[in-house]
Formats: sequence, structure tokens, C-alpha cells
Amino acid sequence: MSGIEAKRVRTRHFFEAKAAGSPISALTSYDALSARIFDEAGIDMLLVGDSAANVVLGRETTLSITVEEMIVFAKAVALAARRALVVVDLPFGSYQTSPEQAVATAVKIMKETGAHAVKVEGGEERTDTIAAIVAAGVPVCGHIGFTPQSEHALGGPVIQGRGSGAEKLARDARAVEAAGAFAVVLEMVPAQIAAEVTREISIATIGIGAGPDTDGQILVWQDAFGLNQGKTARFVRHYASLGDSLFDAARAYADDVSTRNFPAVEESYE
Ligand code: KIV
Repeated sequence: MSGIEAKRVRTRHFFEAKAAGSPISALTSYDALSARIFDEAGIDMLLVGDSAANVVLGRETTLSITVEEMIVFAKAVALAARRALVVVDLPFGSYQTSPEQAVATAVKIMKETGAHAVKVEGGEERTDTIAAIVAAGVPVCGHIGFTPQSEHALGGPVIQGRGSGAEKLARDARAVEAAGAFAVVLEMVPAQIAAEVTREISIATIGIGAGPDTDGQILVWQDAFGLNQGKTARFVRHYASLGDSLFDAARAYADDVSTRNFPAVEESYE
């Protein structure tokens, strides 16, 4: 269960949880039914991630997802979540041009979805952008380490922050903190470096492939719960095999239909 005691999780609870050493739980969510289940299970933060491009829309990378597509998913999640803080990714190309563009996208997403915060990828280079969105009254979660929107520039899903990269990661974390973000996702970072960054900054770190010492953890739910039956990263723990369950259910249904075993009398109208 969650360590955050709140009727509605707010960004201030992230600071309280960090101070209390109380881990923050987060999952991705892209639809109303999963959002309601995760919310009732006590997940503190639901991220409407642009990973929807991969695990919902079946695309290779996150780059092509649009603001309009994100809004459809985010609206459903925000409507369903009664307690969790709902954070929405600003998609690739919707905030990199200028802080003005970033503010316009963030405001549109907040107005049209009912979400509570946005997430942007990038560290030092994103300082002005994060500060401008925060100044407009929109809470921002940062995202550093491996940032999937830059996967071509980074040479694929590669661990970040090793060797001389550790100092760059620390600078990115400090920059995101100074710009006014309430939390920062650390993706694919060595555990020891993530622990050091977590100790150094005042905002909550939410790890994905960043070891056990971040202030919170996030996973893509289709990976963690086995709906994604493809190869998953080393950092994913498998809590369920929903893909197998769905396959078995679909097979049983197909068998029942082909043998006229479905529907039965009690499943039919007189
Ligand atoms: O889009 C996403 O799902 C994310 C998580 C991997 C943190 O950014």
C-alpha cells in the first residue's frame, strides 16, 4: 500500500514522502479501466506516458505520438483516477522549439484533460522550458538519464550516467530541480549514481531501471503485468501474466463460439 496518506495525491505530497523516506509508487496508464484499478490499488502517480506510442499504438518509438493522441488517453485516465496524481508526457516536438511553445502545449493538455501535471524530457538544456511551464502554474516532472524521445541521438536504449556521464547526470538533476520541477524520473541509470543524485537534490526521484534507492519507482504496466509478451528490459519485474490469461480467455471464447456452446439460454433474451 501507499505511504502517502491523502484523499488526492498532490505534488506537495512528493516532498513530504521524500522527507519521510516513504517510497512513491507510479505506473503508466492510458485508459479509464486500468486507471481506476491502479488508483484503487493505491498507486500514487499515474503517468500517461508517450510510451502509449509503443504499448497501445504498436509503434517502434515514441516520436510520432501527437498532442491530440495524448489528450485522448489523458482525458480517460484523469476522469477515472480519484486519488492518484495524473501526469501527462509532453510528446516529442510539442515543447522543444521554445518555452512559449512548451507553455502553450502544457496549458492545452491541462485544460483539455483534467490532468494535474506534465512531464518533459531533458536536463540542463530544458531549464528555461521547465521554468516557463512552472511559471504558468503547471507542475512539471522532469525526466533524465535515458530519454526515449532522444533515442536516435543517444544511440538507442543505453544506460546513462556511467563514468564521466555521472557528472552530466548530476548537473541535469540539479538543473531540473532549480527550474522548479516537483519530481524527476531517472531512467536507466546505475543504481549507485541514482542513489547519489537522490541524496543530493530536494525533489523526489522516480526510478525506472535506476536501482532501489530512488524516492519512487515507475514501470510501464503492460511490461510489468505481462500484457507485453515481447522482450522486456532487465529492470522490469513481472507481477502477472495478463497476456497468457487473455490468450487463454480468447481461445476458450473462440472454442465456445465454434461449438455453439456460447451463448447459453441464460445468456439470451426471451
Ligand atoms: O512514457 C513513459 O512511459 C515514460 C516512463 C518510461 C517513465 O516516460
